[in-house]
Parts: sequence; C-alpha cells; structure tokens
Amino acid sequence: MGNSEPNIICKSSVIEREKRLEFVDTLKNTPIPNNELLMNLGLYLNRQLLSRILFMHELYKKIINVHGVIMEFGIRWGQNLALFEVFRGIYEPYNYTRKIIGFDTLSGFPSVNEKDGQIVKKGDYSVSENYEEYLRKVLDYHESENPIPHIKKSEIIKGDATKTIFEYLKAHPETVIAFAYFDFDLYEPTKVCLEAIRDRLTKGSIIGFDELNHPQLPGETLAVKEVLGLDKYKIQRSPLNPYVSYIVIE
Ligand SMILES: C[S@@+](CC[C@H](N)C(=O)[O-])C[C@H]1O[C@@H](n2cnc3c(N)ncnc32)[C@H](O)[C@@H]1O
Repeated sequence: MGNSEPNIICKSSVIEREKRLEFVDTLKNTPIPNNELLMNLGLYLNRQLLSRILFMHELYKKIINVHGVIMEFGIRWGQNLALFEVFRGIYEPYNYTRKIIGFDTLSGFPSVNEKDGQIVKKGDYSVSENYEEYLRKVLDYHESENPIPHIKKSEIIKGDATKTIFEYLKAHPETVIAFAYFDFDLYEPTKVCLEAIRDRLTKGSIIGFDELNHPQLPGETLAVKEVLGLDKYKIQRSPLNPYVSYIVIE
C-alpha cells in the first residue's frame, strides 16, 4: 500500500509540516459528537485548503451556463470530484447532464518523460489499496444529499488516461466538455488528453491547469504550448492560489 507524494511539491517548512501533523491529531481526537461533526468541519479547514476550494468554486461558477460534462485529469484522493458534486447540488441540482468524470491510474504516475524535469518518478502520487471503493462511497454520499440521486452522475475512470480517454469518448460519442481540469503534473498524459478532448470543447468551456509555469514540473506547460499554444489564449489566474490558472475557450 503506497501513497507517496513527491518532495518537491511540498513547499512548506519542516516546522509547518509538523504543526499540520499535530493539527491532524487534534482533528482525529475531536470531542465533537458524530452527529455534529460534518456541520463543524470548517473548524479544520486551513487557509491553503480553503483557498483551493474557493478557486474551484470560482471556476465552477463560470461554467453554470455552459452545456457539458466536467472532467478532471489526475484526481488522486478525489477531493475536486467531491467538490464538483457539491457545487452541482448547490447551483444546478436538476442538471443531471452535468456528469463529473475523473481519470486516474490510482497507482500514481505510470511513467515519466524527460520533459517532466528531474524530480518526478514513476509511482509518485499513488493512493491506498482499494481507494476507488472508498471514493465511490464518498461520491455516492454527496449524490444522496442532492435531488435525483438515482441517476448516477459521477464516474471514476481508473487506468492510464492516455488510453482510457479514448475508450471513454468512444463509449460516449455524445460528450461535450464544459470544464476540464488538468492536474496530471506530467507532459505526456496532459498532451494526449488535451489533444483528445479538443474537439469536445465549446465556446465558454474552461480548461483549468494546476502546474502551468511551475519550474520543477515543466511538463504541463510544454504540453499546453504544443497543443494549444501559449500565445493563443489568455492564461488567467486568481489571487486565491499561486499556481493554478485557466483559459476560457472563445
Ligand atoms: C497531483 S496528483 C492529482 C491531485 C488532485 N487533482 C488533487 O487536487 O488532489 C496527480 C495525479 O495524476 C495521476 N496521473 C498521472 N499520470 C497519469 C496517467 N497517465 N493516467 C492516469 N492518471 C495519471 C496520478 O496517479 C496522480 O493521482
């Protein structure tokens, strides 16, 4: 059972990391009773997490009037999928066409390319064994809190996305994509999936990127440069987070 995270990504100091681990103990030892815990989780959201959630919220709001599904490329523990489920429940509870589809090996990077820089290695970002089952349970719970729960609106596509994206689009030729979020961190899968989804985007579709302009993870920028061209779109950012960015298809 592995759940490795490459060192580079962690920008925090040793002291900050220790402080956070201590805080995890505080969370695990919460005196709040079970029946009140979910409504009080805000006690434990730190600035870093809350600003990521707010950023995803900012992007979600931009696609409410755009038809199509949401795809996340590189889901790891699946937090964004859960957030998208909740945002859909809040903003468009009856839009059962807004499927949320997450692509991941769930066993970390299947391979790395020389364009990905020095620090990444095969297997980074793996998750625990049988994590798909656990995540399915989490997503089903969120679905159950919203209208039309009997229509399943989220999918986890396990496997190498350079292959599964083609299988998915073949099985779902109707697919229009309103929002694609890229967080593979790597050159090859970003390039292959961007190319694969390009003709499924519409005016107003958003493509979000987690690592553009990242000095230690150059692969994502190179893929975007080759497929879309860096000068062809306005690469926009939000003050909520230093690295994340997005483009709007016009
Ligand atoms: C940085 S993590 C994603 C983090 C996640 N988006 C989040 O916000 O917590 C990168 C993920 O990309 C996945 N990945 C990288 N290359 C892949 C590929 N070719 N096919 C499927 N998944 C891949 C890894 O397994 C890993 O879970």
